[in-house]
Amino acid sequence: MCGIVGYIGKQKAASILLDGLQRLEYRGYDSAGLAVLSGEKFSHLRRTGRVKNLAQAAREHSLFGGTGIGHTRWATHGEVTEANTHPHVSSDEKFALVHNGVIENYLGIRKFLEGKGYEFFSSTDSEALVNLIAYHYAKEQNGTDRFFESVRKSLLHVEGTYGLGVLCLDEPGEIIGARKGSPLIVGLGDGESLLASDVAAFAHHTQNVVYLNDSEIVRLKAGGFSISTISQEDVEAVVQRVDWQVEESTLGDFSHYMEKEIFEQPTALENAMRGRLDEVNGTAKFGGLNLTASEFRQVDRILFCACGTAWHACLVAEYLIERFARIPVEVEYASEFRYRNAPLDKDTLVFVISQSGETIDTLAALREARRKGFRTLAITNVVGSTIARETDGGIYQYAGAEIGVASTKAFTSQILISAMVALYFGRLRDLSYQDGIVLIQALKNLPDQIRTILSEADHIQKIARKYADAEGFLFLGRQVMFPIALEGALKLKEISYIHAEGYPAAEMKHGPIALISETCPSLLFVNNDEMYHKTLSNLQEVRARKGRVIAVTTLDANFPKDLANDIITIPSAHEAVQPILASIPVQLLSYYIAKERNCDVDKPRNLAKSVTVE
Ligand code: F6R
Repeated sequence: MCGIVGYIGKQKAASILLDGLQRLEYRGYDSAGLAVLSGEKFSHLRRTGRVKNLAQAAREHSLFGGTGIGHTRWATHGEVTEANTHPHVSSDEKFALVHNGVIENYLGIRKFLEGKGYEFFSSTDSEALVNLIAYHYAKEQNGTDRFFESVRKSLLHVEGTYGLGVLCLDEPGEIIGARKGSPLIVGLGDGESLLASDVAAFAHHTQNVVYLNDSEIVRLKAGGFSISTISQEDVEAVVQRVDWQVEESTLGDFSHYMEKEIFEQPTALENAMRGRLDEVNGTAKFGGLNLTASEFRQVDRILFCACGTAWHACLVAEYLIERFARIPVEVEYASEFRYRNAPLDKDTLVFVISQSGETIDTLAALREARRKGFRTLAITNVVGSTIARETDGGIYQYAGAEIGVASTKAFTSQILISAMVALYFGRLRDLSYQDGIVLIQALKNLPDQIRTILSEADHIQKIARKYADAEGFLFLGRQVMFPIALEGALKLKEISYIHAEGYPAAEMKHGPIALISETCPSLLFVNNDEMYHKTLSNLQEVRARKGRVIAVTTLDANFPKDLANDIITIPSAHEAVQPILASIPVQLLSYYIAKERNCDVDKPRNLAKSVTVE
């Protein structure tokens, strides 16, 4: 949530900041602003709405200067107004600050400072911090480290989370950054340094980066940097090289990133499987689990934690691991687990799933599990993300950058990796070599089967047109299709703003059936499995109430044509990969419905891609 970018160097800061903000816009798009140090004052520009509004305003102003900070906001404290937009400037006009996170004790700080004559112009928590820095600076009076010390001392008083960048008029050659709970990364170029919440902001300038850890503070100059902890311990910074393909973040011929990412799924899945299928032993292999086979054999129970779409991937993982490895699995919302103090058996393995690797609740769940001494593993897409760095072991998704706010390729790649984990655990226990080989073959067939579904996109778009005026939607599935029903409903509601609910098909009659009408259609997953006839009965219950029905059905189910208003046929496959295949048509359907309703598909209202506040 919220994107921060900072630049110090020989180039014009404003254009680099604007470019960085555009690349970070997925983190929040309520408003955007920048502050550049030019001579005696800040050039300070803020606009509500998208970064393009700020860029337009910047063209009408001369923004000189090689030191600056920028911010794209996802509103927490205070409405979406220009006054609440970052950067915030202290009331003595000496400091500008961009902040991502929440200052929980801001009201107390603000009251204290108001008593000292500081003025406030916004409803944000961040403005309290910039004025606290000004207060410490005024108190500090002398000293070579006056700016740095004022930021550091202020942070000692702050409760909450932050990733921040600060400018001081008296120190034009320096930006101070700090992190606690919100990501912050330093980029090191040739005679220039950058600061951002995500490498995407500056990876085309430099791929030499330093990831800040919690409670670290960085002093950034054009020619270098130094890092310490807020409590003044030295930190040995490690400069890493990130592998970043610039073309990953361009739209190409697609209308939206979401569309592009749906179509990238065959490749994303190939990347997730590459080098991980062991056909000699009929199992899967992973490089970074950091546990031996005998340690894995001692695992009695697995707990999965995640948020949103990743939580749905965990539900699929539960089915697959219990089915193929016979290990009991539980799934918890990370936000609940972190505060629940759940009793866990000593041989529990805690697994988190997070595309961004930065979701604050998932990170907190991971930390809570580690604090209690449990082994932790993570499935993440973003290399070098906080979760990837803090987990005991993990599996990278290699799905490529996911820019669209609604997760698509990351979701299917999380399920695929879960299937490989189920295979690996299964082969350590009772799954036969032959069954392992059958599953491996099914996994290998997946990319082409997805290509087959994608080639039906026009058919799905035609169906979407018929349902774009729906007032509500039910997604119904049984067994492993239930999490896909949840995911289908989430996808549709977040990008088209049609209220949708996902339910186990049989559970529908215990309440949601009341919603069924001509304006509330249902999508049912009908596979050729042991639930086939029972699912058809559920479908009939919908039709009996004049509900329109879309059936997503496997080729081998021979679905009776007159039983649904619309039918989407997908290839038949091994039960472990069927949920992946079933996800593709619902992603496409949601996408086309949202497009038909002229919704801002890649940046749905009120949302942000990376949720780094509680
Ligand atoms: C929905 C969506 C979100 C994320 C959730 C967790 O399409 O993308 O529900 O899945 O915010 O994000 P990560 O996976 O980054 O932890």
